[in-house]
Amino acid sequence: MKNQKTPYKAHLFLCVKTRGGERKSCGDGVNPDLKPILKDEVKKRGWKPFIRVSESSCLGVCEAGPNIMIYPQQIWLSAVTLDDVPAIMATLEEIIDA
Ligand code: FES
Repeated sequence: MKNQKTPYKAHLFLCVKTRGGERKSCGDGVNPDLKPILKDEVKKRGWKPFIRVSESSCLGVCEAGPNIMIYPQQIWLSAVTLDDVPAIMATLEEIIDA
């Protein structure tokens, strides 16, 4: 195993877990445009070396979804929609500026 320090100040995980309607899950409710928009916004601001946007599987809080978690800041965002992109960017900006 190679152990190294992450180059990112924060890692944003967008849950995309789907269950085909069997049970509530983020991937069944999240707008498919959200991830590319988040990635584009991060790139536009020049934050790509510092903020990583990734998909994740279940984060364990399915009923509250769609969910995003931002680590290592221990930030959880729930019921996320496209309207929340400016607020998400403001949160990331605080992390960049910290
Ligand atoms: S399906 Fe997203 S938190 Fe469980």
